[in-house]
This record gives sequence, structure tokens and C-alpha cells, in this order.
Amino acid sequence: MMHSYRLRAPGKINLALEIIGDRSDGFHELVMIMQSIALADQVEVRSNGLQEVRLFCNHPQVPLDASNLAHRAAVLMAENFPEVAANYGGVDITIEKQLPVAAGLAGGSGNGAAVLVGLNLLWQLGLTQPELQRLGAQLGSDVPFSIAGGTAIATGRGEQLDAIAGLHDLPLVLAKYENLGVSTPWAYQAYRSQFSGEYISEPAAIAQRTAQIHAGELVKAITHQDGPAIARLMHNDLEKVVLPAHPQVAQLKGAFQETEALGTMMSGSGPTVFGICESLAAADRVKQHLTEAIADPHLQVWTTTTLNGGIEIIP
Ligand code: C5P
Repeated sequence: MMHSYRLRAPGKINLALEIIGDRSDGFHELVMIMQSIALADQVEVRSNGLQEVRLFCNHPQVPLDASNLAHRAAVLMAENFPEVAANYGGVDITIEKQLPVAAGLAGGSGNGAAVLVGLNLLWQLGLTQPELQRLGAQLGSDVPFSIAGGTAIATGRGEQLDAIAGLHDLPLVLAKYENLGVSTPWAYQAYRSQFSGEYISEPAAIAQRTAQIHAGELVKAITHQDGPAIARLMHNDLEKVVLPAHPQVAQLKGAFQETEALGTMMSGSGPTVFGICESLAAADRVKQHLTEAIADPHLQVWTTTTLNGGIEIIP
């Protein structure tokens, strides 16, 4: 019997994020295209025999208390399977962060997703991926996607997923100011206060918007692995509130636009900005250009690629 598992927890970017309207549960009705990236955290789950959840992380900005999604994931599993949890004892969760925090890359959601997948293995529960995703939806809107990963159309709160043909190793550059984070609840609240006049509420109209994206040009471009078309068609409604509130992020996007990147956009609620590139060599040049153009020691820049998968065991 294994006493520990190590898992890869990839980040994600949004190739599309459309806000449709309000939901009765207080969340927003969304249509998104989610895409996993190779930049990933590592999460280890290990039985500690102490009947408690302990969390360890190498990143100073990550909260280690019960508010952390990884911690909440372990508590959720223990609540759903109390006898098994008691039998196996407590769990130590160790997160090695590569992804920036509060960045719009679903780092926290990925960590929570990894704990669900890891405890399913550690406690030999035999839950299926859809069962894990249903549990994950209780933790956060992005957790179900984080479990499966790849490329997917996400609707509802973001937890209703339709996988689409995945992108193969599309080169990306990601950039973020280390000292700047954006709160997701703030971003959605700011959007509601400015744009709720445009919200749609009739179920038929919502269904029509969903159908539109399924049949739309962006999904076609993804299916054809057409980087330039994806870069031209991608869209994020939250840019409308985050860019004006954080001029630094708008400037960063502007700096990307002066590079050879095929297109550039903010991911999720930000403040990470990404650019799609034609090749890894181009991505390296874009990274170089950004680092030179923005002489700020807080600027972090990564090159990565799209990834065709979600949480996976690291052998
Ligand atoms: O689901 P998650 O905890 O990641 O969502 C964080 C916050 O983002 C929510 O509390 C809500 O303010 C906002 N949100 C939303 N509609 C969604 C997803 C998130 O309003 N579909």
C-alpha cells in the first residue's frame, strides 16, 4: 500500500471568458474556453497518522490555514468518507509552488484538485473522474476543470465542461508583477456594478450564447491548431474592469503588443497577461523583450506551452 502520492497540478489560461448574467446562487453565468498550461505546481499527499490535516508550502504568500483550497479539499474528502479517513489517519499536504498566486491561473484550484485526486488514490476510494469533479465543484468553479485539464468549453458557473480537441504545445509567454494580485470576487463584483445592465437572464437566450461559442470561430481555430486565429479571436470580459483599475496590467498588455507575440490577453480575473507565440524561439525572444522593455524587478516572465491534460501522478 502506498503512503504518499505526488501529483502534477497544471495552471490554466482562459482563451475566452464571457460573462452572460447573474445566477440565483450569487455567481455569474459564464461561457469560457479553458486551457491547461505546462507551468504546474507539485502537490504531495502523505498519511501522517495524526488524524489531522497539515499543510506545507515553499511559497510565503500561500495561506497554510483551513482557508486554503488544498486544505478544504482534504476536509471535504474526510467529511464525505469519515470511516475511510479515520482508518487512514490524517494527511500532510506539501505544495511546491511554481505558479504565481492570485494570478488568474487557477493555481489554488489546481492544488485543491490535486488533493482530491491524491486522496482518492491514497484512501483507495475508487471514485470516478466525474464523481471527483462533482466534489470539486463544491470547492470552487475552476476545480472540476483543473481535475480533467486539456481544452474545454466551460459553462454555468464554470463547472459544466465539454472537452474539445486539445491544443498541442502552443508556445506561450506569461507575465505578472510579483507584488500585484487581483481578488476574483472583486473583479466579478466590479463587473456587475458596471455592466449588469447588459446581463441576459432568459434560459433560452443563455442556451443560444452557449451554442454560439460551440459553433464559433474560436473553437474552430482551436480544432485547427491555428495559433494566429486563436490569438486574434480570444476574448476576456474581465479585462474591461481589471485593466482600468490596474494601469500596470494595461501597460504590460501594451508591452506584449509591441512584441512579435501573435496576440495577448489577461487570463481569468488577472493580473497575469499571456501572449501566444509562433514558436518556442519566438517565446524566448518575447520574454527577453519584455524583461528589457519593463525595467521593474517585480516583473516575472515565464515561457511555457499549452498542455493536453490535468492532474497526473508523478511517478
Ligand atoms: O468559484 P470560485 O470560488 O473560484 O469563485 C470565486 C469568486 O468569483 C466567487 O466568490 C464570485 O465572486 C466570483 N465568481 C462569479 N461567478 C462565477 C465564478 C466566480 O461571480 N461563475
